[in-house]
Amino acid sequence: MKRVSFDEFGGPDVLQLVDAEEPHAGPGQVRIAVRAAGVNPVDWRIREGQFREAHPIDLPSGVGQDAAGVVDEVGEGVDGVEVGDHVFGEGASTYAEFAVLWAWARMPGGLTFDEAAGYPSVVETALRIIGQVGVWSGQTLLVSGASGGVGSAVLQIARDRGITVIGTAGAGNQDYLRSLGAVATTYGEGWVERVHRLGQVDAALDLAGSGAVRELVELTGDPQKVISIADLGAPELGVRFSGVAASMAEALAEAVDLISRGTLRIPVEKSYTLADAAAAQIDSRAGHTRGRRVVLV
Ligand SMILES: NC(=O)c1ccc[n+]([C@@H]2O[C@H](COP(=O)([O-])OP(=O)(O)OC[C@H]3O[C@@H](n4cnc5c(N)ncnc54)[C@H](OP(=O)(O)O)[C@@H]3O)[C@@H](O)[C@H]2O)c1
Repeated sequence: MKRVSFDEFGGPDVLQLVDAEEPHAGPGQVRIAVRAAGVNPVDWRIREGQFREAHPIDLPSGVGQDAAGVVDEVGEGVDGVEVGDHVFGEGASTYAEFAVLWAWARMPGGLTFDEAAGYPSVVETALRIIGQVGVWSGQTLLVSGASGGVGSAVLQIARDRGITVIGTAGAGNQDYLRSLGAVATTYGEGWVERVHRLGQVDAALDLAGSGAVRELVELTGDPQKVISIADLGAPELGVRFSGVAASMAEALAEAVDLISRGTLRIPVEKSYTLADAAAAQIDSRAGHTRGRRVVLV
């Protein structure tokens, strides 16, 4: 089969489309014929070697963790899913023709494979950090970097829970944030004052890692009411960094419910072929994705 792989850490040019052995479903796993793989910032962070000390990996390595496709092998001990089912979920080396998943759910009706591949990681992250920051119906949540993958999920889940969201994004994404139910404002010069004018903030999420944590603490009045997923320096200001994934199976079940109720829909800004995986990662790394990017297989 074909898969995207790299045999040294480095820039996007280390990515190659190669012939590889097909993976097989082990106990508790399924294998899918991949139709689409989600592109996440963590994919290029791993390829650059940003986690090589904390989480060493064997090279050559495949790329990608999110995918949607058609089940074609069911591992030992797996119930409730059959060959031919359309599923989305999380696994390893998903920028490939076949991939093994260890968490999955049946795709809700009406969802395309390319859309479905975009949900797993961002929905898990959004549910986790909304829970950790502690924000409730009737309160206001400030989201820095609200128009990307995680932000798009946070805004819609918060709206469903009766939480008011103030979101920051670039000038071109203000209408997009409003379409997801948020009060929108731009980041950049004067943003703290603009948020002040929009009202009291009960909790805040730093999704962009743009150096805004100090201001988010100022706006909430309490470092415990701020969570960052993108600024490793946040704990120096008493702010929690959330980096350990919670249950993907639970997140997928909740995603299915939200999508089926028409409450959650994350647009795909652009799709790429497997041969264009480097371009997908270059575009993701530029840091201005609206919704999601996916690789189609
Ligand atoms: N710790 C974890 O568990 C975890 C999990 C998932 C992701 N992450 C990290 O979280 C970050 C966001 O992930 P993602 O998938 O949502 O990324 P993404 O889809 O690439 O979105 C990034 C967003 O950041 C916004 N942005 C860029 N510059 C900004 C600035 N100066 N101020 C405010 N917003 C700005 C962009 O908005 P505009 O286009 O409007 O400029 C863009 O929509 C990444 O760094 C990723 O590695 C961490």
